[in-house]
Amino acid sequence: MNNPSNNGLLTTIIIFGASGDLTQRKLIPSLFNLFRKRRTPKKFQIVGFGGTAFTDEQFREHLHKGVQENAGYAFTDEEWNVFAANLYYLAGKYTEASDFQKLADHLTQLENGDANRMFYMALPPTVFPVIIDNLDASGQLHENGGWRRVVLEKPFGTDLASAVTLNQQVHKALNENQIYRIDHYLGKETVQNILFTRFANTIFEPIWNRTYIDHVQITVAETVGVGHRAGFYDSVGVLRDMFQNHLLQLLTLVAMEPSASFSASDLRNEKVKVLSAVQPIKPEQVSTNTVRAQYKGYRSEAGVDPNSVTPTYAAMRLYINNWRWKGVPFYLRSGKNLAEKQSQIIIQFKEPPLSMFPMQTTKPNMLVLYLQPDEGLHVRFEAKAPDSVAETRSVDMEFHYAEAFGKTAIPESYERLLLDALQGDASLFTRADEVETAWALMDPILQTWEAHQTPSLASYKPGSWGPPEGYDLLARDGRRWLNEEASMMLEK
Ligand code: BG6
Repeated sequence: MNNPSNNGLLTTIIIFGASGDLTQRKLIPSLFNLFRKRRTPKKFQIVGFGGTAFTDEQFREHLHKGVQENAGYAFTDEEWNVFAANLYYLAGKYTEASDFQKLADHLTQLENGDANRMFYMALPPTVFPVIIDNLDASGQLHENGGWRRVVLEKPFGTDLASAVTLNQQVHKALNENQIYRIDHYLGKETVQNILFTRFANTIFEPIWNRTYIDHVQITVAETVGVGHRAGFYDSVGVLRDMFQNHLLQLLTLVAMEPSASFSASDLRNEKVKVLSAVQPIKPEQVSTNTVRAQYKGYRSEAGVDPNSVTPTYAAMRLYINNWRWKGVPFYLRSGKNLAEKQSQIIIQFKEPPLSMFPMQTTKPNMLVLYLQPDEGLHVRFEAKAPDSVAETRSVDMEFHYAEAFGKTAIPESYERLLLDALQGDASLFTRADEVETAWALMDPILQTWEAHQTPSLASYKPGSWGPPEGYDLLARDGRRWLNEEASMMLEK
């Protein structure tokens, strides 16, 4: 049933994993800010469900603390008190059918009539099936009166087979249009702006292809190590944590064709099309097209297996087999404990076919999409150096969000995603086939890495830009990572 979102009914958001970190740090601060901006449904309430034995009052206090520490915006006690009056809590076990009956009864009592329900799984995917089964068995997924939606946190599976199984399990009880799979990168303003840069302008798109672009670099670098998430991270590693979702989503947005409309289905059709055109790296190509590495000291982090071979850094070269991109390498890299927090996409254009200038000082043009921090977009081009006969110098044209829109213009990505899910817009959520296509690209790499330990695990110094092997990957093609060069332009 495709219920309109603004049906005027009370909306209940039920959060599983309500006593956890994500709820306290991201979900509630985002929902509270939406409430302050008057964007939440007129009538709404939030019911937390989790293992901790909170009362409603203790739950509110716990979340109040979270908002004070994490909100990143100023708010008054009065605003919080009005919002907090809509927060409730029920303790229970995800595996206990009787606890779901209690939840159903509790909701019926709180709602006192027809209501919409959005179930948010702020939990690892291993418990999604049992929760969905229990919701289904207690009749909570039937759209008899209001809509029912389920938001699933990442990671969605650990490989292709597990993602396919998970999709089958959730599809037993839900239609695809009731499922919202989160990739928080899609909620970032700068990530959404990739499509606007490309398709709301006419100056970029005509040159956005293999005729003009030499290659593309996508870097998502973090300065943090594994921190308190070691238990989770050590079992997944960088490919599952960052590439299958965030980096491949960035590649998709850079490379996809314009969609027929801005609707979720048209947009996601184009995304699946481009992911399907990515040339899978065959097992025998893994050692020359990928790099995996671990930062020094990782094995002595609390919660990490002392013999762990989990990679905390990876780099790879991908090709897209379609008319637009054939032969253009996409270099992707991500890692923890690197020199800077930096997510950026560099489009390196080709050199002019022939130079008429006697001094060969020109550099190829570069477009840099700064996703975070110092969000913006820069174009590097060549200008004649004054007081020279024919020397060129690279100059930079810059757009900074903070300058153009003000420092507070960029909301937390969860705000947008929660709002979209409440409004029934799935454009920024990954569809079942999209998730599976992305896993299909990662599977042969993961299998070669894990079953054959090929290529061998490199290591890198915390605070560096990764292992030498990461540089070699590009050097073999006569290229180099350009982020430091791009940053130097900024410092000038
Ligand atoms: C998460 C990963 O999805 O993204 C984390 O699980 C990572 O390991 C985080 O730190 C990075 O997100 P952001 O928004 O800080 O770039």
